[in-house]
Amino acid sequence: MKIAFFDAKEYDIPAFERFGKERGIAFKYFDTKLNEDTVGLAAGSDGVCVFVNDTVNAAVVDKLYACGVRIVALRCAGYNNVDLSACFGKLHVVHVPAYSPYAVAEHTMALLLTSIRRIHKAYNRTKDFNFSLSGLTGFDLHGKTVGVIGTGRIGRVFIDICRGFGMRVIAYDKYPAEGIGAEYTSLDELFARSDIISLHCPLTEETHHLIGREALGKVKKGVVILNTSRGALIDAEALLDGIKRRIVGAACLDVYEEESDVFFRDFSGHIVEDDVLARLITMPNVIVTSHQAFLTEEALGSIAETTVQSLAAFAADEPLEHELCYGCGETERCRKARKARCF
Ligand code: NAI
Repeated sequence: MKIAFFDAKEYDIPAFERFGKERGIAFKYFDTKLNEDTVGLAAGSDGVCVFVNDTVNAAVVDKLYACGVRIVALRCAGYNNVDLSACFGKLHVVHVPAYSPYAVAEHTMALLLTSIRRIHKAYNRTKDFNFSLSGLTGFDLHGKTVGVIGTGRIGRVFIDICRGFGMRVIAYDKYPAEGIGAEYTSLDELFARSDIISLHCPLTEETHHLIGREALGKVKKGVVILNTSRGALIDAEALLDGIKRRIVGAACLDVYEEESDVFFRDFSGHIVEDDVLARLITMPNVIVTSHQAFLTEEALGSIAETTVQSLAAFAADEPLEHELCYGCGETERCRKARKARCF
């Protein structure tokens, strides 16, 4: 089976080569992202393997189908960059629902601690033999209230970590679950009570700009906002305004609304065109990492293994355990629920 692998990075390749060889899957790696201009590179492949900033819109789907591609394997959990209804009947779409929720949840806590204990400032100071403590006063997490939005796999691990720090945890989820170790509240109550807000829900039409001007009118002054989920959950301009008006005390962002133009690439020595991102990065209370939360050895191995398993199952005409729901409307006769392929 031949798979065109888009947006390939040097850290992706070893694990995919190892698991691919075991299951007879040959990957052809392309640095470029998949989009309408690059889709031709997939010609002659049975499938494509894509990441968070590749574009799988209706036009790309039609072109992939026309050149013989029949499966899209997302090597990530989120799938907001894929037009699933356009794929239905043409391209099977699989993802990696869980690889290491610990990787993302731990990175979220690492960002929070770095920010509130000013580790990023202290690191630079001591590198320059500046041992002054002025301006480095932080605050205890113990006893603070953290509001977790989205209590799925990652949100729940983050809740456990926060409880270990002696924090009060409140949560909001559109589909609440039992036994998460936190009190569910409404979104408005969460905004009003949280000292720290952490986003762990998917990006959908409903959650787009969940943190925008309206929400920032309801939060506690000085709130710390953490986003390791998807950039467009936050209206970046509203966030910048909230920081300037001292409503937002700090922001830690592993994802950014317009990240696809800049993240995963080296822009040092270049002029960054995105003024909002550039201004956010100049703020002393903003920490940006470039969609790095997933990047652990354990997660990379697990992503490659699960993706290769899905591709091998597709090649063998077996059911696809990690096929995404296309929203076909057949709720009564859902094939996925019967562990069959959706089409
Ligand atoms: P999950 O599917 O296990 O959990 C998502 C939760 O969000 C579910 O409990 C769901 O009910 C809830 N939810 C859905 N719609 C909602 C809404 N409108 N309001 C509030 N909650 C809602 O997903 P998981 O594995 O925990 O991942 C969460 C997100 O983390 C993913 O969607 C992805 O965007 C992001 N992610 C980021 C990574 C990174 O490297 N920064 C890596 C992996 C995932």
